[in-house]
Parts: sequence; structure tokens; C-alpha cells
Amino acid sequence: MKNGRIAGTGSYVPETIWKNEDLEKMVETSDAWIRERTGIGARHIAGEETVAQMAVKAARRALENAGICSTELDLILVGTSSSESIFPNTACLVQDEIGAFRAACLDVSAACTGFLAVYELGQLYIRSGKAKNVLLIGADALSRLADWHDRGTCILFGDGAGAIVLTAEEQETKACERSIRWRKGVSLTCEKGTYLQMDGRAVFQFALSRVPEVIREVLAEADMAVEEIDAFILHQANSRIIDGVAKRLKAPKEKFPRNIEAYGNTCAASIPILLDEWNRSGRAQKGQRIVLSGFGAGLIWGAAYLEW
Ligand code: UT7
Repeated sequence: MKNGRIAGTGSYVPETIWKNEDLEKMVETSDAWIRERTGIGARHIAGEETVAQMAVKAARRALENAGICSTELDLILVGTSSSESIFPNTACLVQDEIGAFRAACLDVSAACTGFLAVYELGQLYIRSGKAKNVLLIGADALSRLADWHDRGTCILFGDGAGAIVLTAEEQETKACERSIRWRKGVSLTCEKGTYLQMDGRAVFQFALSRVPEVIREVLAEADMAVEEIDAFILHQANSRIIDGVAKRLKAPKEKFPRNIEAYGNTCAASIPILLDEWNRSGRAQKGQRIVLSGFGAGLIWGAAYLEW
């Protein structure tokens, strides 16, 4: 069966860095509190830079890494919930900038699960035979949706973009990602023109119960055991959530790479940024068994099993 294999990865974060110490000047908080409760030390802030501009930079790096020309792309999917442009969609803006004129272009709004959602769609296009080369991007600038007077939310978020290129390949694989779940929830919302609202404890509990559950489901579908997985690449929302998931799965924390200390929660970008770091640091090996899992506003959560 034809399946999409990761052919290349790329990522981009804006230059401006706000450390926890910078936030101490904005709200009543401390570096110690933020580190202890979240694992975050700093976040990158987009400023004038748009979500599409960040997405383009990540996309160019992924294409270069994959050795694929933009005109070979059949499909561009962008997971984003913070694009400045309502239309054209971000994927069309990326298409125009990189010259991928054969590619169909769609955005998916699924908040922090945005990358998992575009990953599933990209694989479905490839398996159906409708696409051979697919560019998947997660890009967000939640710093624009955060209220920088609200210490309960603003300390969490940062901006960035990550991208992967999937290429159709004949594979003997059990790869699957049929576990995206959607249920309307009120613990994390954002109305147009307002700041995001969050019940942090409720989101925390939701993640701790749903993420291990959906990972178990996708592993059962792939006929894999937790012990057989080389790395669990989770949405970077809170280091304590990642620890909690590891504990519930009875898996060693070392199998859960993280970069939340440097970037905070970059929403749909967090998983592809981590995949890019995994790839470029030489940790990615062909045949490696990887689980991805995203969760957040919607409420939406999901997991995917893939072989590198
Ligand atoms: O992609 C999904 C996005 N969202 C999430 O992942 C959110 C998940 N939830 C969380 O990460 C955590 O719930 C938070 C980091 C948001 C909050 O941590 P917590 O351990 O759940 O703290 P809390 O809300 O229960 O607040 C504990 C105390 C409170 O003070 P009192 O009432 O005990 O006196 C808060 O007012 O900490 C206070 N607090 C802070 N103190 C210093 C809340 N935010 C801060 C802060 N600095 N930034």
C-alpha cells in the first residue's frame, strides 16, 4: 500500500525572545513559578511577522531538506488558528510565495491539534492516490490572541512554524492516524476580536485523561505495544502534562523529547518543530517507530503512529 513517508522537515521561530524574566515586568509572576508549573523558560514572539511568513520559511526549509521542488507538490495543508488573513487562506499564501502552482491548498482550524489533523488528511490524500508529494505545515502566533495582562494564560504561549514533506512510498507499514476526536468544549475558547479564555486546570485534566487513551487506541490499531515505540512526540503544552502522560503509559520520560523550555506552547507548530529538531539533530533513524499526539481547544485530540 502507498503511504506517506516523511521526506524532509523544516521549522522557523521569530527572532524576538521573551524570557520569563521579561514577563515578570508585565504580570505578577516569576521565572520560578513558570518553570515549575509548565517547564517553560522563554518563547519567541512574531511581532510584525505574519503566520504565513513564518509558514513560508518553515516550508522552504522542509522542501530543501526533502530535496523536492515546490512545483512537485500536489497539496499544501496548513494547520493554523491564528492566521491574519481570513481569505486567501494561509496555504494559498504559502503556495504563491514558494511557487507551488500545481498544489491544492487548504487550511485546517483545529488549534493545538492542527498538525495532527493535517497529517491525517495528507495521509488520506496519499493513500487515495490523489497526491504524491504533500507539504504539511503547523503555524501559529498565539501571542496575538493572548491577553498579556492575564498571567493565567499569557505565560504559556509562543509563536512559530514547522513543516514536513510527505512523499508517497510503497510501504509495508502499520502506520495509522484514525483517532482524531472532536467534542465541543468550553475550557479553551477564543471569539473573533477577543483574547483567548482558558480554564487551565480543566484543560490539564482533559489532556491527562484523553492523551494516554487515544495513544493506546492508535497503538492497538497498529498492533504495537507502548514498549515498541522509540519516541512519543507530543504537543508541547506543559512539561507536567508530558510527564503525566508518560507515567500513565508506563513509558520512560526519556522517550518523550521536548523543547517547551525554549518555545513555550506554539499551538499547531509545536509537533512539526519538534519533528524538525528530532530530524536535524540526527536522532531520526529510518524505520523508527514514532507516536505523535496533539490536544487542545475544540476540544480536539488525536494520535498517529508512523514509521520514519
Ligand atoms: O494547548 C493546550 C493549551 N492549554 C494548556 O495546556 C493548559 C493546561 N493547564 C496548565 O498548563 C496549567 O493549568 C497552568 C500552567 C495554566 C496553571 O497551572 P496550575 O498548576 O493549574 O495553577 P492554578 O491555575 O491552579 O493556579 C495556582 C495558583 C493560583 O493562586 P492561588 O489561587 O492558589 O493563590 C493562581 O492564581 O497560581 C496562581 N497563578 C500564578 N502565579 C504566578 C496562576 N498563574 C500564575 C502565574 N504566576 N503565571
